[in-house]
Amino acid sequence: MADTTEPETVSLYTILGGESTLRRLVDSFYKKVQGNPLLSSIFPEDIRPVREKQFLFLTQLFGGPRSYSDLYGPPMLRARHLPFPITTERATAWLECMSDALAEIGVEDAMHAFVVDRLTSVAHHMVNTTVELALDLPITD
Ligand code: HEM
Repeated sequence: MADTTEPETVSLYTILGGESTLRRLVDSFYKKVQGNPLLSSIFPEDIRPVREKQFLFLTQLFGGPRSYSDLYGPPMLRARHLPFPITTERATAWLECMSDALAEIGVEDAMHAFVVDRLTSVAHHMVNTTVELALDLPITD
């Protein structure tokens, strides 16, 4: 008789090592964000609430428990980032921090590349400006 059972799927969340890995990842990531002037300038000084949300979001994105949406509703990440001037340079810096954090916590090469690839399109989707409007031009007409 044909085997009709579904093939078992394992989430990226499980492969990475679940909660303890994601906690180590966001800890390492936000230390790097805070050490990068381009990024630290748009993040709050108390990084803990953002770090917790990011932990919940990545958990969900990688196929773990869906607590982010349970607590905060649909992610709508681009809309949530609109108050912050996100340039291509910032997206690149964000991805570099993430790549460095993955390496620092010891995620092996193939999985590291897979995760960075998965996050690259999300990061570039957040870009919402080409220039940071820090000009205070007088209105002349
Ligand atoms: C492209 C570069 C990015 C920059 C510069 C950036 C920056 C920020 C900033 C400034 C905040 C808000 C901090 C606050 O609440 O005061 C934030 C929140 C957040 N970011 Fe990003 N972000 C980027 C990309 C991403 C990506 C790729 C993801 C997901 C993989 C992500 C996930 C989140 C989440 C989940 C939050 C919390 C949203 C909430 O309020 O529920 N961000 N980000």
